[in-house]
Amino acid sequence: MTAQLDTAWKPRAQALADELESRGDLTDPAWKAAVAATPRHVFVPEVYEQDTNAEWRPVDVTSPSGLNRVYSPTTLVTALADRGTHSEGISSSTKPDLMVRMLEALDVHNGHKVLEIGTGTGYNAGLLSHRLGDEQVFSVDLDAELVDPARDRLASIGLHPTLVTRDGAEGLQEHAPFDRIIATCSVPTMPRAWCEQLEDGGLLLADIQLGVGAGNLALLRRDGDQLEGRFTDRWAAFMLIRHHNERPRMLHAPADAGARTRTTSTPPNPWQDNRVVWFLAHLMGLPPGVRYGMRFDPDTRQPTAGTITAPDGSHAFVMLEPTPNGTWSVTETGPTPLWAAVERAQRQWREAGEPGWTRIGLTVTPDDQVVWIDQPTSEHQWSLTA
Ligand SMILES: C[S@@+](CC[C@H](N)C(=O)[O-])C[C@H]1O[C@@H](n2cnc3c(N)ncnc32)[C@H](O)[C@@H]1O
Repeated sequence: MTAQLDTAWKPRAQALADELESRGDLTDPAWKAAVAATPRHVFVPEVYEQDTNAEWRPVDVTSPSGLNRVYSPTTLVTALADRGTHSEGISSSTKPDLMVRMLEALDVHNGHKVLEIGTGTGYNAGLLSHRLGDEQVFSVDLDAELVDPARDRLASIGLHPTLVTRDGAEGLQEHAPFDRIIATCSVPTMPRAWCEQLEDGGLLLADIQLGVGAGNLALLRRDGDQLEGRFTDRWAAFMLIRHHNERPRMLHAPADAGARTRTTSTPPNPWQDNRVVWFLAHLMGLPPGVRYGMRFDPDTRQPTAGTITAPDGSHAFVMLEPTPNGTWSVTETGPTPLWAAVERAQRQWREAGEPGWTRIGLTVTPDDQVVWIDQPTSEHQWSLTA
């Protein structure tokens, strides 16, 4: 690190820590000190941003504007994978505001042993190591191409947490149990290994996502065989956990034949306007792999309809402009009536008194993982594993 860079990053890191505190993301002085002392630019030597044509371009993180970006509450995409027709971000440095909110939610205390799933750049492992001492910190990621550089970066600033290349779904049995487990990639259900490797009374914070944008962070406490807790107030979404040898999902072209048009009293775009309903819709029949999007008017380029498409080619679009009687026109095609699942979710959400995230909980036992509203014995409950 050059002396010039050294004088450039420190005030920026301090300013970031101050900003996170003034925004209310940070309340614990120990995490504030960790943010101010951790050179994020060391962890993100490569950063990519999409230009207006959605092409990925590298950012010079040592330039003044690059450093400003690095020391701001922004997610930075740090690794791309070639998907043939396009590139896709496969690793990122999570927004520092989200990171510290998660660390505070995890209620970490000195002496705690913490496992992180999703080392990525190593920045979060750096924050944890600064706070707890590196012997208390363990972090795994799927690819050695991510883990080895993260280890080197941490070592370059004098930190030596235990970093392991591993499918994080397996946890890290040889160093279990952990007082806290934090996952910075999302999962469709809580992996058994995380539950088993958590100390009794320990906390697990992970992002449950049943589809794109269909989930949130859940904070669970272990009590014997069972983990239980609720979703967090502030919404967040992480990239989905990857596994080696994963087969790409077969996608069928959206079917246009047999279109069925009717009206609906369920507002369009729940993925944007009501994420609880969008999550519940996945529990109530939306198939895995559903994508959402928008239709645009070719002349005005204004959005006209929200769309959802399933891998089996089923498709639904809901006009954004309401009809004169306050409903919306919906058209469904293909074998799965996609909008019907959203309507069921909207109805149940209304019946349950329009709950926000913190009224929704999750109980994980060795046999099942159940989402509930208000309490585990509620009539509103759905199995994640069904
Ligand atoms: C948002 S990034 C993590 C950010 C990271 N905590 C940091 O501070 O930079 C998500 C990470 O999850 C990792 N990941 C995805 N699938 C995984 C798996 N099966 N096991 C472990 N890590 C995985 C990705 O490789 C990626 O690095």
